[in-house]
Order: sequence, then structure tokens, then C-alpha cells
Amino acid sequence: PTGTHRDEQGRIVVGGARLTDLAAEHGTPAYFIDEADFRARCADFREAFPGWKIYYAGKSLLTRTIARWVAEEGLSLDVTTMGEMRIALAGGMPAERLGFHGNNKSAEEIEFALEQGVGRIIVDSFHEIERIEAACEAGGHRAKVMVRVTTGVEAHTHEYIATAHEDQKFGLSITGGQALAGLVRCHHSPYMDLEGIHSHIGSQIFETMGFEVAIRRTLKLAHQFKTATGVELPELDLGGGFGIAYTEADTPKPTTELAAAFEEMIDHECRAFGLRRPSLSIEPGRAISGPAGVAIYTVGTVKAVELEGGRTRTYISVDGGMSDNIRPALYAAEYSAALANRTSDAEPVLCRVVGKHCEGGDILIRSVFLPADVAVGDLIAVPGSGAYARSMASNYNQVPRPPVIGVREGRSSVLLRRETLDDLMRLDVGE
Ligand code: LLP
Repeated sequence: PTGTHRDEQGRIVVGGARLTDLAAEHGTPAYFIDEADFRARCADFREAFPGWKIYYAGKSLLTRTIARWVAEEGLSLDVTTMGEMRIALAGGMPAERLGFHGNNKSAEEIEFALEQGVGRIIVDSFHEIERIEAACEAGGHRAKVMVRVTTGVEAHTHEYIATAHEDQKFGLSITGGQALAGLVRCHHSPYMDLEGIHSHIGSQIFETMGFEVAIRRTLKLAHQFKTATGVELPELDLGGGFGIAYTEADTPKPTTELAAAFEEMIDHECRAFGLRRPSLSIEPGRAISGPAGVAIYTVGTVKAVELEGGRTRTYISVDGGMSDNIRPALYAAEYSAALANRTSDAEPVLCRVVGKHCEGGDILIRSVFLPADVAVGDLIAVPGSGAYARSMASNYNQVPRPPVIGVREGRSSVLLRRETLDDLMRLDVGE
């Protein structure tokens, strides 16, 4: 729809504003979010999955303004902590459109969620069931719940973001029998309305195969539940995980194609198990916020390193790094990069874009070809940075975290201001 492109002078434009102007106004490093692009991706999911409930996964990137965009686009919101709930509510997201996740929700978080009237709590353990019942008893609430299950799917993605194989922390196991027991337990609870089954198999997934297996196993579980209780579960949530293109090697499917594949599998399995088609929901995070965001850095130093075989690699150090984007260090995630403030006819050379932190693994982009004349003061743009970069940022080396800036029709507004050293100093209350 809008997104990032270059103007006639070769400068990168985002949300109708030149990145050079944005960088001059807001400084670097910074994260710019194209509001129209973000909203268009919400609309794309809404339209590709008609009748489904779409929960934007706030963990990928959440500010009050972003919660408002999501609410205005008619989506719901997946939240995981007190902090995400507070931001979502402050942004005007109605509580009944919140789905509350997490494998270790505290009693305080559960009480808050129930008091606010969150739409549903996605139950992850038997301890949590007890905690929810206690909170309902004490506060006179009823809880709408889904049960998160482990489907045993080995999603083809990095181990740290795969979540449906047996040997990990999330959900109740189907094969171990806990999933059915948990569903029956919630069904009989005097405090709970059981809405259905939740499955999230992992993140940055391109194949529909894993989802297919998850659909079969969750609907089989729904069938077993029906056999055990005589009741059909009204809803199935398939979680998030839809991959985006960070580099040219990545090939995401269009949402309409995903939707068609899901619909077909669900119809097929419902028929096979003699079930009515349940209400359906998904929780895309990255696929909405990722491509809408671009990170911008300033080059501080450039050095050439001789490699074996006579080749050279140019190390380009920028003014951010693993504190604002841990993904390359944590998941070997790949990004592309572009010279953002000008075009260059210089020959492309093998570069490594690195941060300013005190460790060798502080690499933003392991291998990328950039013009040989990239120099101190140039701007480097890293597209596709909207998801899980700023939201996972840290203060490693006491570096203040960069701002998140919304851009729309050429105008920018600060959504999350740049952290300052004063902010950091204020936390340090020792003598
Ligand atoms: N639903 C649940 C229950 C989740 O746990 C997640 C992500 C999502 C939805 C959204 O997944 P998405 O559509 O964004 O892939 N920090 C990692 C990703 C962790 C994902 C955690 N859960 C990364 O940077 O790749």
C-alpha cells in the first residue's frame, strides 16, 4: 500500500517522509512506523479472514497509539503481562477485546484482568486454573477461558521461537492427556466459561504444514472433549507465527492464500470428526508490525578486514546494535540494509553491519553488500524492523533505548520517546 521506497534523489521515503529528514528531526538510532502500512496490514488480515477474530500480538510492538490503531481497525489484541494490558487499555482498546496470555500469570495480573473484564484468558497450566478460580471466588467474577495446548508440531523455525513440540514450557500436552484433562476441568469449573482450544506453534513460519497438523490435532481433541462431555467447543484459536520477508530468501504466503488453506483444512477435519465449524481466531504480530517498521542508524566507523583468500570484509559500526535489536544475536535472524541518505554508484562490497556494544556477537547484519563508499555519517536503514526489535530492547552498556515514531502522510509523531541518560540515572538509587 505505502511502505518504503526511494524518491528521485535515491533517498528512502517512509510514510511519505524522507528518512533523512526524519533522522535529522528525531536523531538516530530510531524506529519509524508507517501508520498507513500498519493499518493496511490489519485490514488485510481482517479482509482475508472474514468472520475470524484477529488478535494483534502486542508483544511484537505496542504503544498506546498502536493499541488505538489496532482498536480502530477493528482488531482485538493479544497481551501477555500487566504492562501490555495497561498500555492496551490506556490506548483505548476495549477490555473485552483483549486475550490474556502467558505461562506464568501472577495472581495480581489475573485479578486485574478479571476486574477490567478482559475478553478471555488463555489458560496455560493447572496452577493457573486454581489461581483464576481463587480470583473469581474472591472478586465475584466469571472468567472466559481458552486452554492452550501443545500439539507436538515441530514448526520449521528457530528453536527459541518454536512452541508446540513437547519439550518446552508452554501449554498442556495433548499426547500426555493433560490437554483433555484441563479442558474438562475448566468445563466443570463453577467459575469458568470454556470457549475452546488455543494452539500457537511458533513464529516466522512459511509452511502451512505445521498449521495443518495443529488443526488436525486440536480438532481431534475437540472431538475427544465432545465424547467425554457431550459438548462441542465453540472456538479454536490457531495463534500467530506468519512469516515475513526479512531478506529476498524469505517467501511469505499472501494472507488470502493462508486463509484459504486454513479454511479448507478446518472444513475437512470438522467433517472427519463430525464437528460443527467452530468460531476461529488467529494472533498475528510480526506480520502486521514487522514490515511497517524501519530502523535507522548513523555510521560511526568503517574498517576493512582482510579475509582468508584475499577477500575483504568491511565492518560498518552504527550507533545502535544488540540493545535495540537482539534478534540477530539471539536467533541468527537476518535482515537487509540500505544506504538511506543517498544513492551511490560505488561497487557493492561485502559488509557486516555491527553495533556499538562490547562484544563480538553484536552484529546487526552478518553479510550484506553495500556501496564501497559508505562513510562516517551516512545513514543505514534496516527495513522490516517493526517487530520484536524495539519491543525486546535492553539497556545493555547503559545505552538509552531508541524512540518509536509514527509517520503518516509525511508527518511524524513520537509514539515512544527516546530514553535519556537521566531516565537511566533515575533508576539507579543507590548511595
Ligand atoms: N500468539 C502467541 C500465543 C504467541 O506466543 C505469539 C508470539 C504470537 C501469537 C505472535 O507471533 P507472531 O505472529 O508475531 O510470529 N521474539 C521472537 C518471536 C517470539 C514470538 C513469541 N510469541 C522473534 O523476534 O522472532
